[in-house]
Amino acid sequence: SALPPGARAAAPVPFGAAIQFNLFESDPDYRQSFLDRCDLILPMNELKFPMLRPTRDSFEFGPADQLVDWARANGRTSRGHTFVWHDGNPDWLERISDPVEAEMVLREHIQRTAGHFRGRLQSWDVVNEVIAHEPRESGGPLRDTWWRRTLGPRHIPIAFAEAARADPDARLVLNDYDLEFRGARYDARRRVALDLVRQLQDGGLRIDAVGIQGHLYSHFEIDPEAMARFGRDLKALGVGLLATEIDVIDFQVPGGPEEIDRAAETVVGDFLDGLFAGQRPEAVITWGLTDRYSWVGDTMPRTDGTPVRPLPLDAAYRPKRWYDLLRQRLSQA
Ligand code: G3I
Repeated sequence: SALPPGARAAAPVPFGAAIQFNLFESDPDYRQSFLDRCDLILPMNELKFPMLRPTRDSFEFGPADQLVDWARANGRTSRGHTFVWHDGNPDWLERISDPVEAEMVLREHIQRTAGHFRGRLQSWDVVNEVIAHEPRESGGPLRDTWWRRTLGPRHIPIAFAEAARADPDARLVLNDYDLEFRGARYDARRRVALDLVRQLQDGGLRIDAVGIQGHLYSHFEIDPEAMARFGRDLKALGVGLLATEIDVIDFQVPGGPEEIDRAAETVVGDFLDGLFAGQRPEAVITWGLTDRYSWVGDTMPRTDGTPVRPLPLDAAYRPKRWYDLLRQRLSQA
């Protein structure tokens, strides 16, 4: 697009992807693909409780240190995922039933972890997936988790307060899924996310951005207008927006690779329309990079038995059309 003389194009919105340490170590092509494609590279699993804290007294920083330092040595940025999640918590943690002890563990976990990485991570997913999946079953807008059962809803402000103390320069993010689709269920989730932001702010706490994960189902309809509204509402609260875990879940798409990729292009395109319409996103990140390795094939395989195609590079590391379109979009924003 033509710029007036003397004008400078704004820096593109950074593109990032999540990387897995075991594959980083074992597969040089995989490792190289992140350097070829990404501005931001983040550890997919290595900062979560189960990998970081297999026992109460251990902090296994090694793998995440290696990933983050490698990214930075190559001029890439990185981010942290995540302190508080319901999934896969180690037994030693979930055996705690005393709220005083649980609070101590949470505060110490964040102090030590955010403190260890201070200055090396642009942002942290402070809490992940705290919005209830089925509000009726969880008895309210928050997910029924060990954290909520043990500490109550205040585990969220505690986590944000501790993260702000431990790394004052990292942007603090509330990360969640199903914030992009059309329908009452998703309107409700967007409302809960905004409520959580306001509650944190009313409590005098800092929250810098909301992460929309972006696990996109090819057979769901994106609601770009609702996404735009969501982005504007966050902006009005002084809160940023980013897409943190994009991939495309394609088990409902009939046909072969072309049909699957065309459906992905549509759903990703609609998602980006909605994302960019509300405010300029801080980053756009996919959950992995190549179809060779993804949780989608393990969790939601295709019914016809053919391989899933969730990510921007195919299994041979060739970029799909939707990768090029996405990159164009980021450089024009
Ligand atoms: O590293 C071990 C390996 O040593 C062992 O042999 C193997 C046997 O199962 O497991 C390996 O660890 C697995 C790890 O992925 C690395 O492949 C864990 O069991 C497995 O639970 C883990 O799954 C991850 C999952 O989160 C749970 O942490 C997925 O890779 C990851 O893509 C997924 O990511 C989540 C986001 O954090 C939050 N949003 C949803 C998203 C998809 O579920």
